[in-house]
Amino acid sequence: MNYFTPMLERSLQELESTAIARLAAARSPEELEALRVEVLGRKGALDQFFKQMGKLAPEERARAGKLLNAAKQALEAALESRKRDFAETGLRARLDREWVDLTRELEELFFSLGFTVLDGPEVETEYHNFDALNIPADHPARDMQDTFWLDGGNLLRTHTSPVQVRGMERLGPPLRMIAPGRVFRNESVDASHEHTFYQLEGMMVDRDVSVAHLLYFMKTLLGEVFHRDVTVRLRPGYFPFVEPGFELDIQCLICGGPGCPVCKQGGWVELLPCGLVNPNVLRMSGIDPEEWNGFAFGLGLTRLAMMRYGIDDIRHLQGGDLRFLEQF
Ligand code: DAH
Repeated sequence: MNYFTPMLERSLQELESTAIARLAAARSPEELEALRVEVLGRKGALDQFFKQMGKLAPEERARAGKLLNAAKQALEAALESRKRDFAETGLRARLDREWVDLTRELEELFFSLGFTVLDGPEVETEYHNFDALNIPADHPARDMQDTFWLDGGNLLRTHTSPVQVRGMERLGPPLRMIAPGRVFRNESVDASHEHTFYQLEGMMVDRDVSVAHLLYFMKTLLGEVFHRDVTVRLRPGYFPFVEPGFELDIQCLICGGPGCPVCKQGGWVELLPCGLVNPNVLRMSGIDPEEWNGFAFGLGLTRLAMMRYGIDDIRHLQGGDLRFLEQF
């Protein structure tokens, strides 16, 4: 049966090259799997060759075995490499499909409502971060925001509100702007406090702006974030740059009102501080409060993302743990 080996060798080579070409041409993981079964499967083409080995003379068998094993390894390697290709493009496609970025969504929404997206510096002047927002040096509100001071009197901005000031200075009224960005607080870190987090500031300055306008925009904003109608309420809240100032609460999205662990049995969740712009703030930026007024809000993007994705520890967000990141 000496003649068998060259024939076997030729058809084995043929099988190998066709299979590799077909693997390369496969367009889906399903096609790959079908090919695997056909060629490498338990009753597949390669297996037929192994079965024929039994018919070979013992001296031929060793050489044939080597050839067969080499072919098998080559095919398996080609298969694995194609599987990796699909895993990668599959992952990329999935990321493209599922990539939800709260900031981008909110930018698009506000853009459609006539708002400009502004950017401000992370290293701020004391004036923009505090004074121009009606928080002078001796003001107790400065203690509410533990500050990273830099040499030379500048600081890392403690909130995105200074971008309001820059917007008013640069654009003047009427004005509709939002400013998403990173902010810094000199705090000790725990499950709900980070030294670095994200806010989205918003401001509208126009004639006859009222709390009704504020509520309308906030409800539109929250509808976009949570993809459903939300019930809101305003409580008084104190911030030097707004008067009146409010804390806007939403009815708990988990229990819908009766109370649950998420809303700490209260039925409402505190979501976003806002208010009508304090006339002092307008005046300091060169806007006449007799003619113009406005509303402002400061959305805690980090907290919102945590609520939306059910993240219970803020430290995960900057922790760089791939096991955490890979869930998204
Ligand atoms: N800047 C405030 C903070 O970080 C949040 C804030 C409150 C922003 C009220 C506003 C506002 O625009 O009107 O604590």
